[in-house]
Amino acid sequence: MKFTPQHTALNRELFGPDFNWGVSTAAFQIEGAHDADGKGESVWDNFTTKKGKILNDDHARTACDFYNRYQEDIDLIKKLNIPNFRFSISWTRLLPNGTGAVNQAGIDYYNRVIDYCLEQGVEPWVTIYHWDLPLVLEQKGGWANRDVITWFSEFTTLCAQNFGDRVKHWMVMNEPVVFTGAGYFFGIHAPGRSGIRSFTSVIHHVVLSIVAGAKILRKLVPNSQIGNTFSCSQVEPLTNKPRDVAAAVRVDALINRLFIEPLLGMGYPIKDLPALKGIQKYILPGDEDNMKFDFDFIGVQNYTREIVQYSFFTPYVNARIVKAENRKVELTAMRWEIHPPAIYHMIKKFAAYPQIKNIIITENGSAFPDEVTDGEVNDPKRLQYLQDYLSQVLKAKNEGCNVNGYFVWTLTDNFEWAEGYHPRFGLVHVDHTTQKRIIKASGKWFAEFLKKPVKHEEFTLEARSRM
Ligand code: FCB
Repeated sequence: MKFTPQHTALNRELFGPDFNWGVSTAAFQIEGAHDADGKGESVWDNFTTKKGKILNDDHARTACDFYNRYQEDIDLIKKLNIPNFRFSISWTRLLPNGTGAVNQAGIDYYNRVIDYCLEQGVEPWVTIYHWDLPLVLEQKGGWANRDVITWFSEFTTLCAQNFGDRVKHWMVMNEPVVFTGAGYFFGIHAPGRSGIRSFTSVIHHVVLSIVAGAKILRKLVPNSQIGNTFSCSQVEPLTNKPRDVAAAVRVDALINRLFIEPLLGMGYPIKDLPALKGIQKYILPGDEDNMKFDFDFIGVQNYTREIVQYSFFTPYVNARIVKAENRKVELTAMRWEIHPPAIYHMIKKFAAYPQIKNIIITENGSAFPDEVTDGEVNDPKRLQYLQDYLSQVLKAKNEGCNVNGYFVWTLTDNFEWAEGYHPRFGLVHVDHTTQKRIIKASGKWFAEFLKKPVKHEEFTLEARSRM
């Protein structure tokens, strides 16, 4: 089926006055300054030193140098008329050894970022954990060690105590299934471990840590909005043969339901994915009460859809994803299929959980091989992608789904984990040698889209004051 764009009349007003517009980033992907001012080493600092783990052996020691250029980048956010800025806190800037001694320079840095946002009228939305575990804690077992709940609680408490007076929107962790699956099962992300054993324990410890963190935020910053973000992809079977359909159910349980369902009080989806029954042995008496939380919002992050086929040879799930490049569909630089209806389906799926009160799209965006020509970056494919996905968000909203925000991934072209600097996701182009920023055509469109029309009274008042 060919998707027909329906965005000709797309405008901000259609989403309502209370819709939260924003842009999302993550500390490790933009900050650089990897050892500045007392920062400790994270699993990603370490992973990026290993040969062959990252495309072109890229690293993030400088990244977008946001650590030193945060004012310039927050100015850009303001210039783009983006009212909300999502960023994460680097654990090892605050606690270089993971726990214990606090690095005041790290706290001072985030205070400067938060204060500068507020001075510019940009609302900070903070993710506590976007994948950069302190290396010393990984050496003690990382997320596979149940003590991580205490370690993570200490870090969250520090964030809440220091930033809670000004930060009113929090996300405890970013995409638990990605950092646990890619980091502890497939070994393609930091810390690079693989196998089902550590994966099952990690899942449970992450769930307990998310809830512990959320409870700390609720107690220490009572008047704030607390959420968590979840990656998701629309999953469809390749054919309607029962074994492909069953394979799709298993993959859906793994990539879309594994974390949200326990956190909503529904338990792990083990019935639909028996391979994960090993989680049960990590559930200790009393844990049930500490596995769920009443979130103020759920961050839904969608980019694509996956087509699934039964596979005898794939262990645990007996399913395989049919690569998008073998399906003759349009791709992004991540080799992800461009499929705007996916975001509509995912909003519908999350909105169907009665416990979810409020959905914010905390990430959506696309990477393409953008080029600078005469000082400009023309990126029609990203522009089209944004408009087409936004039209689908609007469709879900108009059908009554409780979706109340949309954050673009991302502000500047940055360090895309195992893919290095190859995929460019930004609304703003970055030359990674000179650090020069250029707003892309898609960024200019978004700025125009977000521009609030001048109300008649404001206009006359302003005009009068000029007289
Ligand atoms: C998400 C991550 C984010 C970024 C985008 C492209 O899975 O949360 O850090 O890498 O994908």
